[in-house]
Amino acid sequence: MQVFIKKDYEEMSQKAAEIVVEEMGRKKDGFVLGLATGSTPVGLYKELIRMHKDEGLDFSRVTTFNLDEYCSLAPDHPQSYHYFMDDNLFNHINIDKKNVHVPDGMAKDLEAHCREYEKMIRDAGGIDLQVLGIGGDGHIAFNEPGSSLGSRTRVKTLTEETIKDNARFFKNIDEVPKYAITMGVGSVMEAKICLLLANGAKKAEVLAKAVEGPITAEITASVLQMHPNTMVVMDEAAGAKLKRKDYYKHVEKMTDALKKK
Ligand code: GLP
Repeated sequence: MQVFIKKDYEEMSQKAAEIVVEEMGRKKDGFVLGLATGSTPVGLYKELIRMHKDEGLDFSRVTTFNLDEYCSLAPDHPQSYHYFMDDNLFNHINIDKKNVHVPDGMAKDLEAHCREYEKMIRDAGGIDLQVLGIGGDGHIAFNEPGSSLGSRTRVKTLTEETIKDNARFFKNIDEVPKYAITMGVGSVMEAKICLLLANGAKKAEVLAKAVEGPITAEITASVLQMHPNTMVVMDEAAGAKLKRKDYYKHVEKMTDALKKK
């Protein structure tokens, strides 16, 4: 795991954008980008939009797969993850909407749709870089505590904590869907690069568990310790409870110095 601790949310988002753009540049002929929702990656998406508008960053050959979607919300529902992605990214860049994939929470046969989603990822050649946030209970995507670390795309029942956390986006808590389609932990682990983002003091404890604690299905993000190429980018507040904070900063400096040689 490479850990980057940045001063604030803005610097965290900029570093994340640098990583995404560098990887996009390595694979110009069809980059497959895995995307996440939630408030955490919004700054990253804003920076990608700015780079598209000011610097001509090209998304015409980018294919995207989103991690998850609420069951029973249509793509045009303002609280659906599909709507969120349109609003926060897709409507502002030159991506071909044919190349955009978000699980369909309205699919008649949800199990068949989950299988099909996995197949679409495989047919696209797998995910080159997967953007991730972390839930208050340590989940990645909607892989709630206790999820199999080998799980695939499926329907997941949300925990009370997640429903409460996400109630801020709805008029009232009863409107928050109780189920979601989510890529599994095993599906996420197949991405060539994972990029986990976290900001704010609220995430400090769970992030320390994910990065430095034991690997456990109780904190599904902790399995990223087993991934050969994971980068974790956070702000100071989210990194406050890490034991090896100083070492991570030292490593970043030393790596930069090595690059300049
Ligand atoms: C939801 C999403 C996750 C996201 C999490 C954190 O549960 N399914 O992918 O990481 O929210 O949200 P936020 O970034 O708003 O803290």
